[in-house]
Order: sequence, then structure tokens, then C-alpha cells
Amino acid sequence: MNFSLRFLHRTAALLLGAALLTGAAGELAAQEEGVTRGEDGKSYTEEGTPTYHVGEDGTVDWYIYQGFRRYHSECHVCHGPDGMGSTFAPALANSLKRLDYYEFMDIVVNGRGSGNSVMPSFGDNPNVMCYIDDIYIYLKARSDDAIPRGRPAKREDKPDAATEAEDACFGT
Ligand code: HEC
Repeated sequence: MNFSLRFLHRTAALLLGAALLTGAAGELAAQEEGVTRGEDGKSYTEEGTPTYHVGEDGTVDWYIYQGFRRYHSECHVCHGPDGMGSTFAPALANSLKRLDYYEFMDIVVNGRGSGNSVMPSFGDNPNVMCYIDDIYIYLKARSDDAIPRGRPAKREDKPDAATEAEDACFGT
């Protein structure tokens, strides 16, 4: 009896300690958990879908920056600046809390909607399709509040792999 009580106490203390540890680690790694960086400088989730990387001082990876630029040339006329939405197209910074990478791709490639609310299909538009990961990565960072509104102040240099992928996509 005495022993088992002490044992219970010790177990409880251990469990509590473990819970505190995971709690702390979970908070620190909320954004980065399971995220790895490829040689192309692009970050990937555990599932292998693209995601963003923001440094501690707010420096954004190349892909966020490129996505910011492409979003504002191809999407913002309807979806509003910074993914904030407009009167006739939804705020994509919110949509990406709900849509996964594949659902996002499907909508951009094939389009959606009817009547007055039509999302055009961009599957044949290289200015969108060659940068679609970048646009997704940018919007995902906005959706997680990992970056503020506006043009990113500091960014990483363009990786060679990004230039190569771009050339290959445009066939130059
Ligand atoms: C001509 C206006 C227009 C342009 C340009 C446009 N969209 Fe859309 N988009 C819409 C409308 C309208 C909807 C809502 C369609 C519906 O009601 O189903 C929409 C819906 C979407 C959705 C689904 C949102 C949700 O909450 O389910 C995604 C994702 C999306 N657009 C991505 C993009 C991206 C990325 C670009 C730029 C490459 C883009 N759109 C450019 C008008 C546009």
C-alpha cells in the first residue's frame, strides 16, 4: 500500500513533467513541426506538400516572396490585396485554413463557381501555373499569420533551383 502510493506519486510526477515538456515543445514548434527544407530551399510538410519558412527576424524564404509578387499580379484584382478578399471573391488567407494543397490546386487549375461568382480556370496560364506552389506558400503563410500584410521587408536570395524550375516551366 505504502509502496504503491509512492509509486503512484512518482508516476504522476513523471507524467506531469512529460506533459510540461511536450507542451513547451509544441508551442515553440507550432509552425515548424515536421517541416523540412529541400535542397531547392523550399520547405515541405511531413505529407510532402510545400509550405513556408519564416526566419526568427522575419526574413521570408524566396518562395513566399515570389508568391507575394505573383498573387498581386494574377489574383488580387478579384481576391483583394494580401489575400484579404473583396466584395465578389473570398479572402484566400481564410480559405487556406480550410482548403488543403490539393483542393487549392484543383480549384486554380479547373476553376469553380457559376452565375455571378466564377473563379476562372488557370490551368493553361503559365504565369500562374509556373508559380502556383509559390502562390500557395505565400497564402499559407498569410493564413497562419506567419507574415504580416504588405510586401515582405526581408527575403532570402533566389535559389538556383528556382531559376532552373522557372526556365523549365516556361520552356526557355
Ligand atoms: C476574375 C476574378 C478572379 C481571379 C482573377 C481569381 N479568382 Fe479565385 N475566385 C474568384 C471567385 C468569384 C471565387 C468564388 C467562386 C465560387 O463562388 O465558387 C474564387 C474562388 C477561389 C478559390 C476557392 C476559395 C474558397 O474559399 O473556397 C481559390 C482557392 C481561388 N479562387 C484561388 C485563386 C488564385 C490562386 C488566383 C490567382 C492565380 C485567383 N483565384 C484569381 C474569382 C477570381
